[in-house]
Amino acid sequence: MAHVVVTGAAGFVGSHLCERLLAEGDTVVGVDAFIPYYPRAVKERNLAGLLKTPGFTFYEADLRSAGLEPLLEGADIVFHTAAMAGLLKSWRQFNEYMTCNVLATQRLLEAAVNVGVRHFLHCSTSSVYGRFATGDENAPLAPVSPYGVTKLAAEHLCRAYGEKDGLRFTILRLFSVYGPRQRPDMGYHIFIRKLLAGETIVVDGDGTDSRSNTYIADCIEGLLLAARQPEKSAGETFNIGGGEEVNVLQVLAMLEELSGRKARIEHGPPRPGDQRRTAADITKARTLLGYNPKTRIIDGLAAQLAWQREQLSML
Ligand SMILES: NC(=O)c1ccc[n+]([C@@H]2O[C@H](COP(=O)([O-])OP(=O)(O)OC[C@H]3O[C@@H](n4cnc5c(N)ncnc54)[C@H](O)[C@@H]3O)[C@@H](O)[C@H]2O)c1
Repeated sequence: MAHVVVTGAAGFVGSHLCERLLAEGDTVVGVDAFIPYYPRAVKERNLAGLLKTPGFTFYEADLRSAGLEPLLEGADIVFHTAAMAGLLKSWRQFNEYMTCNVLATQRLLEAAVNVGVRHFLHCSTSSVYGRFATGDENAPLAPVSPYGVTKLAAEHLCRAYGEKDGLRFTILRLFSVYGPRQRPDMGYHIFIRKLLAGETIVVDGDGTDSRSNTYIADCIEGLLLAARQPEKSAGETFNIGGGEEVNVLQVLAMLEELSGRKARIEHGPPRPGDQRRTAADITKARTLLGYNPKTRIIDGLAAQLAWQREQLSML
């Protein structure tokens, strides 16, 4: 069993990852600074179960300024999920994106080298590919948002530390993750919230933008497969996506069916920097790691809808 540090532990992906690691018997140190990208109360709810779980220790610390070596001491594995995620705000809050995504990653890598971490797994994004994220890991890297640019810089830092210090790293490019605890700024979360509230849903563009969304449990499975097989994943980059590609209008139709409610839809202009199509080519993760995302979009949406309904009932 391993001793694992997870940055961004109070976030969507990080909190699920911690739960899964603990369930497999690892000890986990979670680190998060509750960056106010979305409300702290939401992140505290993400953490609530973890704080009661034996084997979990939480530190509120900002990776941009905290002393990181004591946090990483004794860690076999570091999962770096902390970031300013989401592309829209990156046009207006570049300083936060630059410092949380680039500077914080550099400081974490430096500390990981200094304490001798065995494996550094970095959560990156399909946004590093740019307008179309439809190829394999060798597709051109041409981000079209400041978010994507900072995440690509962070990937390059991992490679630089791998080169300079022999740090064993793996880059995992996530593709639109959804499911319970999805960030409140993300599309499906907004669609469900508005559908349940009877509010108008504004679809950016004509609704034919498509995504190969990844259900959170499948995403976590991909991250774990990379961590558990360092001999196969070290120095490599993997697309971690879902199987099924759906467009926005199809998702809204499924949500109507699942909720029994009719969506009120309006179309707005496309968002600057948005991707037209993401369809993860996961051949490499499938072949090398045995990654096999299983969740059908209809089942994943049902789980997220049930979670959002439960959150509303607790208000
Ligand atoms: N959710 C997705 O669909 C998706 C898709 C592609 C890539 N990713 C990547 O996955 C990772 C996790 O995304 P998420 O959706 O869980 O986001 P999230 O915002 O829910 O979680 C990120 C967490 O990192 C923390 N954090 C940010 N900067 C920090 C700092 N300087 N010090 C300490 N903590 C800090 C935040 O407080 C937050 O709790 C990110 O790296 C993101 O770029 C996510």
